[in-house]
Amino acid sequence: MSQSNETIGIIGAGWVGLVTAACFAELGHRVIVLDVVPERIEQLKAGNVPIYEPGLTELLERNKERMSYTLEIKDVTDEADFYFICVGTPPTYSGDADLSAVWAVIDSLPPLERRAVVVMKSTVPAGTGEKVRAALQARGLDHLGYASNPEFLAEGRAIEDFVHPDRIVVGSFEPSDSERVGALYAGIDAPIVYCDVASAEMIKLASNAFLATRISFINEIANVCELTGADVEQVAKGMGLDRRVGPHFLHAGIGYGGSCFPKDVTALKQLAGNSGYHFQLLSSVIEVNELQKRRVIGKLEKHLGSLAGKTVAILGLTFKPDTNDMREAASIVLGSRLLAEGAEVRAWDPLAGRDSYLRGANICDSVLDAVTGADAAIIVTEWKELRELASEQVRGAMRHPLIIDGRNLLDPDQVRAAGFAYDCIGRPGHCNHTPGKATSSEPPAE
Ligand code: NAD
Ligand code: UGA
Repeated sequence: MSQSNETIGIIGAGWVGLVTAACFAELGHRVIVLDVVPERIEQLKAGNVPIYEPGLTELLERNKERMSYTLEIKDVTDEADFYFICVGTPPTYSGDADLSAVWAVIDSLPPLERRAVVVMKSTVPAGTGEKVRAALQARGLDHLGYASNPEFLAEGRAIEDFVHPDRIVVGSFEPSDSERVGALYAGIDAPIVYCDVASAEMIKLASNAFLATRISFINEIANVCELTGADVEQVAKGMGLDRRVGPHFLHAGIGYGGSCFPKDVTALKQLAGNSGYHFQLLSSVIEVNELQKRRVIGKLEKHLGSLAGKTVAILGLTFKPDTNDMREAASIVLGSRLLAEGAEVRAWDPLAGRDSYLRGANICDSVLDAVTGADAAIIVTEWKELRELASEQVRGAMRHPLIIDGRNLLDPDQVRAAGFAYDCIGRPGHCNHTPGKATSSEPPAE
């Protein structure tokens, strides 16, 4: 429990808003959650959580006495001393961050007596805090405090990340505002980085861009491994043991997706460009990632020849496991490319639902259904259900038992011993190479 319990307004009931709300309530604070989508607020009031995040439903339920939900900003401003802005900041067509939801929140603040602190949790370009301060001044709200408190949680492990963060970052114009925000986290054992607002904003963007850079780097190493006979898994392990390098975010695959890396890398590149600097490295990070998603098509063609008329199973649709989030998922690019090549696409995912992300694909209820009659199965998301993919039942169901492992999830020896042809990312010694031949053993009769 925190030493002094406060009343906190959470504006935006998405991943960040709901996790922040539940975790602050768990720390003992009173939390008022605001959203503009009536159905979302109704659902939350009824005890239903509109997103999938492990442990979140239980945490909200456990703390429901300290939580309330509303569509009215006045319910927040009448009661709360902190207004955490947790609204989306998606990319615009130009790649700049779309801050319209942030401005809508600022514009919606009514005249206030209370000296509350506006806290920016949404990821915003460096310089946004200054603009918000000017806008508050222009509205006669210059007595409000302002802090940048970016969020570093990863989906699927968001509560763990909030409760055991590597660090908490708080930037403000007035030291007393930072102290008030920092104090909300009493009970969480993590260093707090106090800094100016622009630096806090930049810490967030730079962290995401750096992690994305590591992924594109290891993906390029994987591509070179495929040409030189090295094994990227061994290379990453050997690199990661160097403490200056570290083992994290060196897992080669079919590229990063999600609601944050793609948009934040582009937003930082655009921010640099708008400020007069060409951030060349980030252009490459983005390009490598785009090409990586498409490389799987080449692998399929190597085994199957033309993809027209072939049936391909996409296994896993979400941008990573343990989330139902489809934003910028590699499956969308891959599926669209396959459909454009004239392939029939069958897809399975345990959480993604049947929305029209892959219009034209046949969304199946089970892995077995998805692979039935398929010429190839591609592991796009490393769901644990796929660890046993190389079974006799799956081999019997496929027209050609070929697995393309986009996440290096499976044990190549076991897969090939089970009678499948196998291809993966950056491990050429483990892959079948024969062009146009689907299996190392004969495919089952059609
Ligand atoms: P989200 O899209 O899941 O949720 C945003 C919520 O804000 C929605 O429920 C929306 O209805 C609501 N909203 C929009 N306009 C509003 C308004 N004017 N008033 C009140 N509510 C409003 O977004 P998210 O994934 O939670 O991300 C929020 C921010 O946090 C983004 O800037 C994102 O980059 C950043 N972030 C996200 C993650 C993540 O893993 N999802 C992690 C760290 C940081
Ligand atoms: C990421 C960051 O990890 C969080 O710290 C940050 O708060 C968040 O973005 C954000 O700003 O929203 P998230 O997008 O939920 O979190 O997921 P990650 O686990 O980071 O994975 C992102 C993508 O990178 C996934 O598509 C994943 O498959 C891919 N990835 C990750 C790799 O391809 N290789 C790796 O080694 C690690």
